[in-house]
Amino acid sequence: MVYVIDKILISEKELKERTEEIARQISKDYENKNPILIGILRGAFVFLSDLIRKMDIDVEVDFMAVSSYGNATQSSGVVRILKDLSENVRGRHLIIVEDIVDTGLTLNYLIRNLQAREPASIEVASLLLKEGRQKVPLDIKYIGFKIPDRFVVGFGLDCGQRWRYLPYIASVKKVKVF
Ligand code: PRP
Repeated sequence: MVYVIDKILISEKELKERTEEIARQISKDYENKNPILIGILRGAFVFLSDLIRKMDIDVEVDFMAVSSYGNATQSSGVVRILKDLSENVRGRHLIIVEDIVDTGLTLNYLIRNLQAREPASIEVASLLLKEGRQKVPLDIKYIGFKIPDRFVVGFGLDCGQRWRYLPYIASVKKVKVF
């Protein structure tokens, strides 16, 4: 069995428009607050880079890379930090930028981890939210699109490290190879 692209779920135009809307909203909410946008590698890098280029306030950018212990399709909630922030965030306004929230366990861990560093505030911007999948209650302020429980790729999201470069979000399907 191999994975192939099935169909486009969110077009390049829809992604552009929604990203611009969120950028405008964040610019309004964070005027004069100089927030730090924290991109969660690897998937968030495309959404984050589009987002900041449509914002019209002063922002800083930092990154974390995390890895979830668990099997390939299900995160366990036990998260290992592969790359930590480069800056001290005490007293700063933080916006965690994610590509997708599925069970919410990764995000739940990240929020608790960052909270311990005593920032002024923490909010979340996630491009995608899988509906009905969250195992923990989460308050996500900026959501791009709610999607059904499908395996999706593109716009930063991968399947076995493939297809992050696609300018749209597509579902994948398994096919038999003969
Ligand atoms: C994805 C996504 C989140 C996490 C969400 O990362 O970027 O960090 O999974 O899953 P959860 O809500 O069930 O915890 P992934 O592990 O695919 O790594 P990647 O961004 O490097 O592709």
